[in-house]
Amino acid sequence: MTQKTFELVDQSNDRKMTLPVRAGTIGPSVVDIAKLNKELGVFTYDPGFGMTAATESRITYIDGDAGVLLYRGYPVEQLAEKSTFMEVAYLLLHSELPTRKQLDEFIGNIRHHTMINESLLRFFHGFHYDAHPMAMVSAVIASMSAFYHDSMDIYNPRHREIFAHRIIAKIATIAAAAHKHSLGQPHVYPRNDLDYCSNLLHMLYAVPCEPYEIDPVAAQALDLLFILHADHEQNASTSTVRLAGSTGANPYAAVAAGVSALWGPAHGGANEAVLSMLEQIGTVDNIPKFLAQAKDKSSHVRLMGFGHRVYKNFDPRAKIIRETCHKVLSRLGRSDNPLFELALRLEEIALKDEYFVARKLYPNVDFYSGIIYSAIGIPRSMFTVMFAIARTVGWVAHWQEMIGDPAMRIGRPRQLYTGPARREYTSIAKRA
Ligand code: SDX
Repeated sequence: MTQKTFELVDQSNDRKMTLPVRAGTIGPSVVDIAKLNKELGVFTYDPGFGMTAATESRITYIDGDAGVLLYRGYPVEQLAEKSTFMEVAYLLLHSELPTRKQLDEFIGNIRHHTMINESLLRFFHGFHYDAHPMAMVSAVIASMSAFYHDSMDIYNPRHREIFAHRIIAKIATIAAAAHKHSLGQPHVYPRNDLDYCSNLLHMLYAVPCEPYEIDPVAAQALDLLFILHADHEQNASTSTVRLAGSTGANPYAAVAAGVSALWGPAHGGANEAVLSMLEQIGTVDNIPKFLAQAKDKSSHVRLMGFGHRVYKNFDPRAKIIRETCHKVLSRLGRSDNPLFELALRLEEIALKDEYFVARKLYPNVDFYSGIIYSAIGIPRSMFTVMFAIARTVGWVAHWQEMIGDPAMRIGRPRQLYTGPARREYTSIAKRA
């Protein structure tokens, strides 16, 4: 089959070049512009990289118009219904669903790394009690490279595998330690007899002075939320991890950079912002007034949890989380949760509003997730930390895919320069 090409003509001087087009398995093809500057002396211009394929990847596929999300080809709806977070982690890291033996071995490897160095625990004492948990988590993760000199050769596949097990296991322990520090309570050590999410709940909520009983409803809800948040193609935080990792920086530093990028309210910080927004709106009667603000650009107010760079249809994760809200709240005996009722009405009214319809703004993964986190007792400041725990799997999968690619090069975008042309220095005595 002859390769498809695009013809590009510079009409100012009749120069032209043929651009090769590469097709993926599914989804849009890409125009290879590697020789564009050499042949025509120009760059492409795409602020925010909205129309730029920064890499080739085999991990996750999104069709934003159809509302499709596939992890290694498997629809996220099927994984949400039938799989577990640990099985999805294995799938994202190893490309295939595991056999029972492979999954048991993977879970065993994760469990082997759940504790963190006692010196790392002392880092938390340096933070104020009211430090934001994302600040503590990103700082402690960045510091992990100081403890693992034995496995820092990023070109050694075994070192990359140990890193993957360590960071996936320890991010939960670090997250819980940040929460405990905020409460002024002692750190609770992990329990390797528990599954990943039950252990996280145990480390978040148990106290030394009394037994703690894990609520299976809460553990199942967390497991589902972590499946849905595990990966999402080249989103801002994953692209940050790839860019940081492309310099050869150690993987802990790259993941810490991803945690920082995720923190922003336009990205993973939106789940925390949605709850604040719902509390600010307060009642259904205030919805029209708030939406008027969200539609007024000068207000700098946005309908948090709505809109997406890629989804111009329902975010499939939002649909699943909304249905889960119903189940979790009723099983926890909180089906009359006022914030959930308000969120449902807000969604209903916004989806009938021409402003949101015309811009194809739908609820995204962050719109309902905070309501479930709240219902299972997670404090608002920890919502984005929960997102980071799940997304660590995706960050690691993408970092491994990039580092394992022999064609990997340091990421280095170019620019359109609109500053002053060359000019000569003048001494201060001659300046007006
Ligand atoms: C995540 O990339 C990923 O995959 C991210 C993520 C993942 O799993 O990694 O899915 C997780 O980050 C979800 C998004 C969470 N963020 C929010 O919920 C914050 C609120 N949403 C927005 O700020 C916004 O929708 C973004 C940041 C999500 C998307 O920004 P874009 O693609 O740059 O959209 P845009 O600003 O170009 O919006 C197009 C229009 C603009 O109006 P016009 O200039 O055309 O008149 O829609 C408006 C925007 O002003 N708009 C909104 C809006 N989102 C977009 N107006 C009001 N409220 C909003 N939420």
